[in-house]
Amino acid sequence: MSFPKAVAEAWHMVALSREVKRNQVRKVTFCNTPIALFRSERGLGALIDRCPHRNYPLSDGRVHDGGLECPYHGWRFNPDGACAAVPGCMAETSQDQRLRADALRLWEGHGAIFVTLSEDASITPELPPDFGNPELDHFWWQQGTWRGRAFDAIENVMDPFHTNHLHHGFIRRRDRRLPVNLIVNSHGDGIDMVIEQTQPDLGIMSRFLERDREHSVSRYYPPATVQARWEGETRLTLCVTAIFTPATDDSFTPFARFSTPKGLAPAWLKQAAIRLFLAPVVAQDRRALERQHEVMTHFGHPQFSSGPGDLLGNRLYRLWQGERIEPGSDATVEAML
Ligand code: FES
Ligand SMILES: [Fe+2]
Repeated sequence: MSFPKAVAEAWHMVALSREVKRNQVRKVTFCNTPIALFRSERGLGALIDRCPHRNYPLSDGRVHDGGLECPYHGWRFNPDGACAAVPGCMAETSQDQRLRADALRLWEGHGAIFVTLSEDASITPELPPDFGNPELDHFWWQQGTWRGRAFDAIENVMDPFHTNHLHHGFIRRRDRRLPVNLIVNSHGDGIDMVIEQTQPDLGIMSRFLERDREHSVSRYYPPATVQARWEGETRLTLCVTAIFTPATDDSFTPFARFSTPKGLAPAWLKQAAIRLFLAPVVAQDRRALERQHEVMTHFGHPQFSSGPGDLLGNRLYRLWQGERIEPGSDATVEAML
């Protein structure tokens, strides 16, 4: 296992509920562990993707009689891992511990499926604010599994300085910058950066999607969640919760949940507008993370120098590794974004 213990033992989002319909199986990988997710009338199951019999991948199987049936000899497993049947044999199998598939703890809510490899993880995943707030409109956006490291994706979204260049014209501009105040707050088990500015960003996204802007804040909830909130003078404009599930050492699966106050515009219209404006931005980040990863892979390891704009220093990495950081606020930094 090449992930820090704190990452490997956490809850991880692995799929949207709508991606695993009744009688469907879906193979997902997180923390280098392949899982067969399936849903039957007995509920949702998450089994390690290895049949205990002869190690055939269970995710190749079908849902049958409430369980997941291995295609090789037809052993069938209930969502809790018990072996419901060994076809052709009369023996009672469901109490036999040796025949069990490895079932993971799972939690489903707000359209998301979380699993954990740990027996010691909290009873349910800890979710950031407003994740399930019924007063907001929410929608999920998922775009498959990306090449690169989950940690680099987290650093990418916590870093405002790349937006002027990589997302020139879309979010901010590289040729015209605005004065901002940056304030970093450490919370012990997380960190955030507040950006205060007197006018919206100069990219087309803000012009279309935002009316006013007082500040925005991005907060890292270790190990894999970042929530960015944009706030106008009086209220929340947009909240994006991004979850970067580590799939393998070289890939991750991002999930984004968009939450907006009800009433500004119909939910479908907001969803269409956000998708339209964000699609090129997401493609730019995806490409950047891939390119960065190619270079690190070529040289065999990352080797990062931090500059004057890297205000979080090594704190993100320490949190990723499960460390706590000293709570408190840094001095305000004036910058141009
Ligand atoms: S390998 Fe799965 S039933 Fe034999
Ligand atoms: Fe970006």
